[in-house]
Amino acid sequence: MTIKQYVQERKEQIKNLVAKMEVKPSIAIVQVNEDVGSHAYVRGKLKDAEELGIKADLIKLDINTTQDELLEVIHRLNQDETYDGFIVQMPLPKGIDENIIKLAISPKKDVDGFHPLSSLIACTPKGILNYLKSEQIPLLGKNAVVIGRSNIVGKPMAKLLLKESMNVTVLHSKTTFEDMAFYVAHADVIVIAIGKTSFLDHRFNYKKDAVIVDVGINRTEEGLKGDALRDLPVKLQTPVPGGVGLLTRLALYENLLEIKGINE
Ligand code: GUN
Repeated sequence: MTIKQYVQERKEQIKNLVAKMEVKPSIAIVQVNEDVGSHAYVRGKLKDAEELGIKADLIKLDINTTQDELLEVIHRLNQDETYDGFIVQMPLPKGIDENIIKLAISPKKDVDGFHPLSSLIACTPKGILNYLKSEQIPLLGKNAVVIGRSNIVGKPMAKLLLKESMNVTVLHSKTTFEDMAFYVAHADVIVIAIGKTSFLDHRFNYKKDAVIVDVGINRTEEGLKGDALRDLPVKLQTPVPGGVGLLTRLALYENLLEIKGINE
């Protein structure tokens, strides 16, 4: 099934679940940045909410908002029973410490699953894992290569795949090309999130049954491009656009339902 078909099917299930709920789930999305990628994500998240029958409000703050002002908004939302959960869209403007913000969000309301005490899984890794499972991709004992070590994708993804008993290698900008080529050639599952257009290309050899999950969203003159060149000789490669972004958005609402005690 393509990601689009998979997401459509899951959304239909969530919509039916929500329709049966007397009190509808509600979420607030706090956006402080003027990031083009974030605008697209936030618009997508609001559109999804409407489709699913979930109440969603955007709290748009000025780009010059200080860390203390943002913390105040977070403390208010932590107490606000109007919302079951909320997220603060990343990246944050310079001068605001991402880690301080993540720790300020009550784990009970942290739909992103960013807080270390959160029982939820971060949206992008969660969405990816669920899709790989739905495609029945063998994971146990197989080789996973995660390229990129960010806090919102690389690190939580590596942890999650390790939990699936994969042999996980994390590579990054300081990895030499020779080493990168070695690990990529042996990989069964590659998750790439480094923000370099078409980094995975024909310089590398791939297992023919490999799966490439492309988390990259790079704006180029020819439009949106992933971190992997299209149509590499592998079994499955997720497209950009219309790939992982949809899985992240889906996982957000799965997490919101989990906060409401629904785990289906
Ligand atoms: N920016 C890119 N992905 C995400 C995400 O999953 N959550 C938040 N809050 N910001 C993001």
